[in-house]
Amino acid sequence: MSYNLLKGKRGIIFGALDANSIAWKTAERVHEEGGTFVLTNAPIALRMGQIDELAKKTNSEVIPADATSIDDLENLVNKSMEILGGKFDFVLHSIGMSVNVRKGRAYTDQNYEWTKKGTDVSAMSFHKVMQTLYKADAMNEWGSIVALTYMAAQRVFPDYNDMADNKAYLESIARSFGYFFGRDKKVRVNTISQSPTPTTAGQGVKGFDGFIAYAEKMSPLGNATAQDCADYTVTLFSDLTRRVTLQNLYNDGGFSNMGVSDAVMDEFLKNQ
Ligand SMILES: NC(=O)c1ccc[n+]([C@@H]2O[C@H](COP(=O)([O-])OP(=O)(O)OC[C@H]3O[C@@H](n4cnc5c(N)ncnc54)[C@H](O)[C@@H]3O)[C@@H](O)[C@H]2O)c1
Repeated sequence: MSYNLLKGKRGIIFGALDANSIAWKTAERVHEEGGTFVLTNAPIALRMGQIDELAKKTNSEVIPADATSIDDLENLVNKSMEILGGKFDFVLHSIGMSVNVRKGRAYTDQNYEWTKKGTDVSAMSFHKVMQTLYKADAMNEWGSIVALTYMAAQRVFPDYNDMADNKAYLESIARSFGYFFGRDKKVRVNTISQSPTPTTAGQGVKGFDGFIAYAEKMSPLGNATAQDCADYTVTLFSDLTRRVTLQNLYNDGGFSNMGVSDAVMDEFLKNQ
C-alpha cells in the first residue's frame, strides 16, 4: 500500500546487494512512496550482486562507491545531486562487514588489521558519509539520515564478534554527528536496531539459525522482517517524524525489552 509519503523527496540508498538485502526492500518501498534515489554499493558488490535489476524496477541510476573512500563518496554525492536535480531529503546507510566474522576468527583472537577494516567499513564509513554530505551542504532542511544497527551494541551476543563494537561506534556517531547536523542544517540522524534478518550479512554470523529462532521465540510480536524495516525507514524519511533525532530505535518485535518469554522457558525446561 502506498501513502505517497515520500513524494518529491530525493536521496541515496547504500547497501542493496540482492533481493534479501534490507536496503533492497527499502529501495522498493521508497519508490512505492514516490521517492527518487541513486543506488550505490562497493564496486565489487556491484559486480557480484543484482543491483541493475533493482535500478530498472525503481528507475534509478547506480553509482559505485566504496563507503570507506572519501574520493568515492564525494563523487557519489556530486553526481547524485546532478542526476536527481538537487539536494537530498534522505540517506540510508545499510552497510556492514567484519573480516574476523567472515574468516571465523574468535573475538578473543582478533586479527587487528581485519578488525580495523571492519570498523572502517561498518562504522567509520557512516561518519565519512555524513561528513561528505555536511561539507557539500548536500542535505535539504528537515532531511533524514538512517543507519542500521543491531542490539549487540548494548547486550552481549558472543558470536556477533567485533561487529558488536562496530555497532556501538556506529550508534555513537549517529548521536554525535546528529547534533551538528541538527544544529546547523536541521537534519535528523537516527539508527534502527533491527531483528536478526536472513540476508548475506546476517547469515555470515556463526550460529545464525539458532540466533534468529531464539529471537523469534523471545519477541512478543516475532522478529521484524526486512520488509518491516523498510516500512519503518520510510516513516523516518517522511515528514511525519521531523523532530525524531539522535535516537537508536528498536524494530525488533519487542525483543530488546524482554527478560524471558513462555516459549523460550518451555524450550529450556524441555531440555532440563
Ligand atoms: N541481517 C541482520 O540480521 C541484521 C540485523 C541488524 C542490523 N543489520 C544491518 O543491516 C545493514 C544491512 O545489512 P543486510 O542484513 O541487509 O545485509 P547485506 O549483506 O545485504 O548488506 C550489507 C551491504 O554492505 C555493503 N558493503 C560492504 N562493504 C562495503 C563498502 N566498503 N562500501 C559500500 N558498501 C559496502 C555490501 O556490499 C552489502 O550490500 C548492515 O548494517 C547490517 O549490520 C543486519
